Amino acid sequence: MIITGSIAEVGKQVKEWKLNGLCVGLVPTMGYLHEGHASLIEKSVSLCDKTVASVFVNPTQFGPGEDLETYPRDFSHDCELLKSRGCDMVFHPDAAEMYPPDFATWVEVQSDMPKQLCGKTRPIHFRGVCTVVNKLFNIVTPDMAFFGQKDAQQLAIIRRMVRDLSMNVEIVGCPIVREKDGLARSSRNTYLNEQERAAAPVLFRSIQHGRELIKKGERDARRLIASMKELLEKEALARIDYVDAVDGETMLPVNILDTGVLVAMAVYIGKTRLIDNFTVDSSLLSGK
Ligand code: PAF
Repeated sequence: MIITGSIAEVGKQVKEWKLNGLCVGLVPTMGYLHEGHASLIEKSVSLCDKTVASVFVNPTQFGPGEDLETYPRDFSHDCELLKSRGCDMVFHPDAAEMYPPDFATWVEVQSDMPKQLCGKTRPIHFRGVCTVVNKLFNIVTPDMAFFGQKDAQQLAIIRRMVRDLSMNVEIVGCPIVREKDGLARSSRNTYLNEQERAAAPVLFRSIQHGRELIKKGERDARRLIASMKELLEKEALARIDYVDAVDGETMLPVNILDTGVLVAMAVYIGKTRLIDNFTVDSSLLSGK
């Protein structure tokens, strides 16, 4: 497995692969990899000839007072996991390689999409994500790129960016990977102390509760959200940031629960902000 922090080296290697007719997959990450990331790597390895993972804690997607400095990092563990899952190249640049001191160009989806859900409390987050993902696409020129459905708003915004800017890359969304007790895998789970870790599956319980209500015939988004919030509020360590039902493509709020609606939440457990979601599909609506 090639490990490099150099944009030029990535370009040279990918060019050689492409001259040999090989298909290249990219898995963008911020490191501290877990089974959720591993599933993205495996998907890429299964669909592409070569897989590149980027490991870069992108400073421009963190707002003031967020966890940029404390974001967990363990590059040697990341490399072990990536190698064991068949990754061919790791791109691990430092911030100076990605952002020259006079960096001044941004990529932003300028609709209401990035202002909903997580965008309400993280106003510059998606501008930072779009900018770095755009740069990674330019550096790696992947045929396919893989993102987790846990970050559903991020995935929808990246799809929009790719469509609007006619980018030549196929975006592949991959299912949420969960712990045995339902907690969605996240690098930030490591912030939870023992008590908080025990409390954190309340997000999944609320998701399951919401799904059950829809199966039983609930179609009113406001009632569903109120009931999901009620369950969350029973957990003393949980503080709700939002629970919302939105159109899965536009991220705009909906009143009726129908196919393609995204039900998403962000909840603080102690000081750690966790996110989770599910999408309403025809099987849920038919009670299965
Ligand atoms: O989902 C993440 O880990 C990040 O937002 C991403 C896509 C790697 C961009 O920094």
